[in-house]
Amino acid sequence: MSIHWPDLMDRILAFSPGDTSELRAYFAPGRVNLIGEHTDYNGGYVLPAALTMGTWLVVRPRPDRRFRFATTFSDRVVEVSADDVQFRPEQDFANYPLGVIDVLHRRGVDAPGMDLFFFGNLPVGAGLSSSASVEVVTAFAINDLTGAHLDLEALAVIAQQAENEFVGVNCGVMDQFSIAMGRKDMALSLNCLTLAYQLVPVHADGYRLVIANSNVPRKLAGSKYNERRAECEAALAIVKRRFPEIQALAEIDPSAWPEIEPWLRAEGGRGMDADVIVRRARHVVMESHRAREAARLLENGQIEAFGELMNASHRSLRDDYEVTGEALDALVEAAWEAEGCIGSRMTGAGFGGCTVSLVREDAVESFTRHVETAYRKATGRTPSFYVTDIGDGVHALPALDALAR
Ligand code: GLA
Repeated sequence: MSIHWPDLMDRILAFSPGDTSELRAYFAPGRVNLIGEHTDYNGGYVLPAALTMGTWLVVRPRPDRRFRFATTFSDRVVEVSADDVQFRPEQDFANYPLGVIDVLHRRGVDAPGMDLFFFGNLPVGAGLSSSASVEVVTAFAINDLTGAHLDLEALAVIAQQAENEFVGVNCGVMDQFSIAMGRKDMALSLNCLTLAYQLVPVHADGYRLVIANSNVPRKLAGSKYNERRAECEAALAIVKRRFPEIQALAEIDPSAWPEIEPWLRAEGGRGMDADVIVRRARHVVMESHRAREAARLLENGQIEAFGELMNASHRSLRDDYEVTGEALDALVEAAWEAEGCIGSRMTGAGFGGCTVSLVREDAVESFTRHVETAYRKATGRTPSFYVTDIGDGVHALPALDALAR
């Protein structure tokens, strides 16, 4: 979907009347994670990329310390005083930008009042990080308008903090970080323990990334996500009793696993199922290693070996981490059968949402046809497809006068 600014301007000006030269526009993408799932909160590697789909934000500063929020998704305008920023369920979508305003405020960046108009083309709740996109674009805009001079890394961490502390979702840093730091045609190899990162050129000539949306809402995502986090914390606590120097599960090298596994199995029986603990930890250790290795393969253009790692990642998420579910498994199995597909896996938190596949360019059409038919047969549902490009991270747009012409 491309944005038609002249049509939007009428809506924006109806919400926020005044001089168009006072309006500022920003964009933050969504993200797709290529590999490295459920590793970020375990101090591991991830390999996400920014999409060209995302969230646009148009802002007009206000002198009266009031924040007003509107979107194209609803007719509602949410209005809040700058001196009374709190989470309230009835504030709905506005809780995401309000969380950012709150965290910035606590860090000494006092955002003056403003009108904020959001619109976008990311499917909401589909695992492509629409909420992180809203948070990061808000943090970037306020940073720009207040001259706070926070760098992109700091803005990513602030956006994550808003999600953790204000919205109450205990996510890791991957989504906000990739949305802030992404670059066109690059994936981001990020060590989530140290936040050291490298932009890796995606050398996949002749192949396209195809995202398939299961159109199953991620219902259990919140509770199961927190359950997985708790299981990983339990595993780490056991590992630390023997190896106190280990700070995070993903720090364990796969070569040390044969020594760790029996220890976890013997000790894990207290309170939680030992086999479950072992499988969760094994996924994290192997997946972080795969994500690190995958960055190297991508850079070298070893695209088929990269695809193999994507497949291994999905199997591990299905069997050891148990976050795939019937719909995502059906999409991935259909992709594995399709001609021209060299790798496919679920992406994001799981329990519904999307898969990502690497598909030979000339086979994309037959691929989507095959996956659609097989998925329909297996689940009775219809998937949506996005043949995606990798875009830039959050940025300011030219003056609206120019865009609207
Ligand atoms: C969600 C979270 C991320 C990450 C993924 C799983 O997208 O927001 O922080 O944990 O799940 O890899």
